[in-house]
Order: sequence, then structure tokens, then C-alpha cells
Amino acid sequence: MARERLQKVIASAGVASRRECEELILTGVVRVNGRVVDSLPAFVDPQTDAISVDGKRLKPPQRVYFALNKPKGVICTNRDPEGRKVAVDLVRCPQRIFCIGRLDADTTGLIVLTNDAELANHLTHPRYKVPKTYIATVKGRLDAEAVQRLKRGIWLAEGKTGKATVKVLKAGNQESSVEITISQGLNRQVRRMLANVGVPVKSLKRTSIGKLKLQDLAVGRYRPLTKAEVAALQAAPTATQTQSGRARTKPPGSNGRRRDGRKTDAS
Ligand code: URA
Repeated sequence: MARERLQKVIASAGVASRRECEELILTGVVRVNGRVVDSLPAFVDPQTDAISVDGKRLKPPQRVYFALNKPKGVICTNRDPEGRKVAVDLVRCPQRIFCIGRLDADTTGLIVLTNDAELANHLTHPRYKVPKTYIATVKGRLDAEAVQRLKRGIWLAEGKTGKATVKVLKAGNQESSVEITISQGLNRQVRRMLANVGVPVKSLKRTSIGKLKLQDLAVGRYRPLTKAEVAALQAAPTATQTQSGRARTKPPGSNGRRRDGRKTDAS
């Protein structure tokens, strides 16, 4: 998680105003991980650093979790140098939060915002293959062969994508729609996979992350996650529990073994 100014973290814990907390720091009564910090600027991670004022330990901020239906044109970084709207600004929350993973600016749908760096790592680390489902509207017809290719995996610049679950929801000559579930997070992966089989994406929406569903949350709206939803995300399958879904980095014909002779989990 990004580090924050020490005086802001102390003030958010209700000790005093930000200005007063600056003065407290300068008087030498603030310790971070046991060491006195008496000069500014000073930065801390409020979740992991032990901060005390006058010997009294501050409680780490409460962990918060939200599901947002991200609108088009909104980006998932906490600040945009180009001045575009950012997802964190759509969620009213006194804690400093961030998006877990990213959706493209043009993609709508489910994104989780939190201050829990551990959960963020769990859901985005390539080791943890958390399935994510998208509905895409594409140009043209998605035929049976294209569906089979998507299911088996598509060769992209990074390697072969893992197995996908694919369900055609509507097939038309001009436009089709398809539900696709992948367990990786390559940049613009769904768009590139669909373009690769000849059906460029017109619109893309994420509808689930693991067991968490977007349901009927309106575009631009958010809601706190329930305890059960957070627990389900924390328990999302890990690499040792799921053996498919990673981009293969060797072309077809390789024996799926590492140089040390052990099998890779992509084979
Ligand atoms: N795949 C994409 O192409 N875009 C997203 O935003 C997410 C997955």
C-alpha cells in the first residue's frame, strides 16, 4: 500500500488536527516501529507500521471493502496526470483506498476498492488464479471454431493464455455477445483475445471476480462488501489448488518441463 504522511495518519486516528499532529511529531513523542520520528516529512504504512503517540499505540485503520460498477472513462489508478476521473473519487470513504487490479478506461463493471494490501496481492498476484468473468459485445459473428480457440488459449505476445470458459450469449452477423471467464490479468487480455479470433470488442463489462458478483449495481454506484463476500475473496483459489489458467510461455511442442526437470504448472 502507498505510504502516507505521518501527521495525516495520526490525525485520522482522532489524536488531534493535522496541524497539531505535526507539532506533536516535532516534540519527539511519536514513535514508528519503536523509533522516535521527530522531523518531517515522514511517511508510514498505517496498516503495517506500529505508530505510537506518548507511548500509546494507534490502532491500524479499519479495513474497508467496496464493490464499484466502474463507468466508462474512469481509470483505476489513484491519480491521473491527464486529469481523468479516477475510480477512488466515486467512493466516499475516510480511509485511503485503492483499486484491486485494473479495468481499462473503456471497460465498465466490477472493481473492488479497499485499503487491504494483503487481499489486493492475493487477488492480483499471478500465482493466485482468481477467475474473472466479462461480458463482451463484439463486432461480427463468433463462430464455433473461434469459441474453441478462445477456450483452449490464444497466443499473445506474453505467451499462450490459459484455458477460458466461453459462452456465446447472442450470435448475429453484425454483432454478438459473449461471456468469457479467464484466470489471468494480462493487459487488455479479453480485448486482445477476441480481436485475435477476428471479433473486435465494442464494449466490455466485468461481471464477477471469484465468487463476488456485480449483480444489479448500477453504473457509477458502489456498495460495501459483506463479511461473507470478503471472506470468499480471501479464500479464492490459489495456484496450488488450481492447475490451469496461466499464460504458457513456451510455444507448442515444448515438453512442459522446467530446466530442472520438474513439471511446470502450465503443462
Ligand atoms: N480485459 C480487457 O481487455 N480489459 C479489461 O479492462 C479487463 C480485461
